[in-house]
Amino acid sequence: MRIAVVPGDGIGQEVVPATLPALTMLSEAFGLGIDYDVFDWGADQWLATGVGLPSGALGHLARDYGAVFLGALGDPRIPDMAHGRDILLGLRKGLDLYVNHRPLVLRHGVVDLYRENTQGLYAGVGGSLTRFGEVTVAIDECVYTRDVVERFVRFCLGRLREQGRRKVTLVHKSNAVPNTGSLWQDVFRREMAAFPELTGSEEYVDSFCYNLVRDPTPYEGILASNLFGDIISDIGAALMGGLGLASSASVCPESGFALFEPVHGSAPDLVGKGTANPYAAAMSLALMFDHFGHGAAAGLLRDCLTEAADSEAATPDLGGKGSTRDFMDQVTALLERELVRRRIRPSTTGEL
Ligand code: NAD
Ligand code: IPM
Ligand code: MN
Repeated sequence: MRIAVVPGDGIGQEVVPATLPALTMLSEAFGLGIDYDVFDWGADQWLATGVGLPSGALGHLARDYGAVFLGALGDPRIPDMAHGRDILLGLRKGLDLYVNHRPLVLRHGVVDLYRENTQGLYAGVGGSLTRFGEVTVAIDECVYTRDVVERFVRFCLGRLREQGRRKVTLVHKSNAVPNTGSLWQDVFRREMAAFPELTGSEEYVDSFCYNLVRDPTPYEGILASNLFGDIISDIGAALMGGLGLASSASVCPESGFALFEPVHGSAPDLVGKGTANPYAAAMSLALMFDHFGHGAAAGLLRDCLTEAADSEAATPDLGGKGSTRDFMDQVTALLERELVRRRIRPSTTGEL
């Protein structure tokens, strides 16, 4: 299987390359046959050529690759993020990766946040009017079509049931944004009828955020529209211990194609320091292993990342002294140790 690796901008170019040795090691140890090509889509290419996502890229990816592994996009030289929308939203929407899973890994367990990834305020419907070069009218429409909400809700409820979850919360804002809000509520209630194992609740996004921060333990599954899911995932990252820890998978269930990326951005404040935390990027690889049915590789990677995050090699955001490289060196050393200890690979040193 081939993976398209897109480091992107800023710390994406630091954390993604740092995780690749672990990817290769696990692919070899478990015989997964994963291979990758690196694509230099991002700010430099946009500024040099005006090209974000090259024409034909979506077809090329769908034909020759199984997934994209992306770092982050965002560059201070492109303040309106035009290239980021072209590339990142281009991939999410163009490959119809409509389910964005952003697990909140918390002390008490995992809260599965599912974000609709193609429509809503990200539908790209809008425009502006200008007078003497100054914007006087600005419109971004929130668009949701019933079929898109239905397929998302149905898939997520199925996933939650498969995972033995019992509770699911729809996050909405139907009191102030009634049209899309009540469409979501209507779809959620109808789809829930087919899932008697699940207990549903509905919360306004403002009070939901308040409740989540005060006590996340009652939540198991969360369904949110595109923008609400984006915001909740950063709040969730704060609860997890920082953006350096939060990973995500964007999936098209029908084609199986998926994009794996950390939740964080290009962190211009950290660029060049060599201390960006690669944990979130590496955890996104664990989500990738899971997605392709390689649960053992995913579990091993998660175990080693967790152990490394508790060690001196942890990066400063976690209170450690390690660099991006130190941290991943520690992870690969732990992988070596565990591959032998778990008898997945014979010892190369003769030690048991
Ligand atoms: P950000 O996520 O890049 O950074 C927010 C804060 O978290 C910063 O203080 C940063 O230092 C810290 N942080 C982020 N990742 C970290 C890591 N791996 N290790 C340690 N600390 C980390 O958000 P921002 O500063 O608002 O955005 C910067 C740029 O990234 C903007 O251009 C934005 O549009 C873009 N962005 C892109 C993505 C993406 O590509 N998926 C996501 C979010 C933001
Ligand atoms: C994310 C980011 C993106 C989003 C931006 C960079 C377009 O914030 O992946 O969380 O809003 O989805
Ligand atoms: Mn975000």
